[in-house]
Amino acid sequence: MEDRFGHHISYLRVSITDRCNERCRYCMPQEEQEWLPRDDVLSYEEILRVIRVGVGMGISKVRITGGEPLTRRNVIWFFEELGKIEGINDIGISTNATLLAKPANEGESLTVADCLVRAGVRTANISLDTLDRETYAHNAGRDYYDLAIAGIDAAKKAGFEAVKINAVLMRGQNEHELWDLVEFARERELLLRFIELMPVSSKEMLTDANFLPTAEAKKILEYRLGALKPLPEFKTNGPASYFEVPDSGGQKIGFIGAMTNFHFCDTCNKLRLTCDGKLRPCLGSHLEFDMRDVLRDPEMTDDDVAKFFLNVVDRKPEQHEFRDNYEPGRKMIAIGG
Ligand code: 5AD
Ligand code: SF4
Repeated sequence: MEDRFGHHISYLRVSITDRCNERCRYCMPQEEQEWLPRDDVLSYEEILRVIRVGVGMGISKVRITGGEPLTRRNVIWFFEELGKIEGINDIGISTNATLLAKPANEGESLTVADCLVRAGVRTANISLDTLDRETYAHNAGRDYYDLAIAGIDAAKKAGFEAVKINAVLMRGQNEHELWDLVEFARERELLLRFIELMPVSSKEMLTDANFLPTAEAKKILEYRLGALKPLPEFKTNGPASYFEVPDSGGQKIGFIGAMTNFHFCDTCNKLRLTCDGKLRPCLGSHLEFDMRDVLRDPEMTDDDVAKFFLNVVDRKPEQHEFRDNYEPGRKMIAIGG
């Protein structure tokens, strides 16, 4: 599938739940979170149907997100079914890692992470913004630092092809820890990416006081580590720019500058499916199209679902609107980071 601006669409990010066991300040309000009613959320069967049709249209990479995807019931079953769909080359999960080290079933020695790998999940993208327990609790609204670290270790042990760490840059929160995060990633062989705060979910966090641009983070790192060497050829299917850390034995780190990188959208290959069945052509635009009606209409066939995909791709914007006073309309948690 190709849009009007030459973006080739091959990547579908699917949010399977709006629920989360944490309350990250940049993602959702601290408490009194209102969850979607159960019927509004697509069933696993409905989601799998959308993915199957998408794969027929050229989708080859699927990432499962939330909310926290691992909070949804029977999620391992869902991943097993997903792994059986032919034509997907790459299945990934975005998670806060807090549930990865848990036994998959009571009394069983396999962890949730092990089961994901067995089901065919290749990459785990894990959110970790800090190595300080108090900062973690402050930012995530829960004191789950140890669970997250145990989850990261379980992910490494389970043998994902890649375990990535996403650290959202926040001035006053983690700029003095950037080196430590790099070291943590080097020691555990994790691919670390620093992400600029975006105006998704809540604009409250995105103030000059909180915003730390990737260029500044890079300068901070270089002050101690020496010049980072650009790796323009190294790509991981997303908009990150990668660099090699000097004298590190080849450690790569990435920067995702959604706000300050003007070429951010040039190579966008994504569509997003929200947990309530809206197909979104761009994270940073309010455009969304209700696929749930089509899925729940017994008259509508897979061909209609396929046409729906094409129509949405045709409306994909050239770039996101984050820089144009974008007002977040929908929570990140319901869109699927
Ligand atoms: N800005 C930047 N990144 C965000 N994430 C969630 N909300 C925001 C935001 N407002 C990130 C999480 C996670 C990924 C799914 O999205 O940290 O790594
Ligand atoms: Fe949960 Fe991830 Fe949002 Fe944090 S960023 S509240 S872990 S979904």
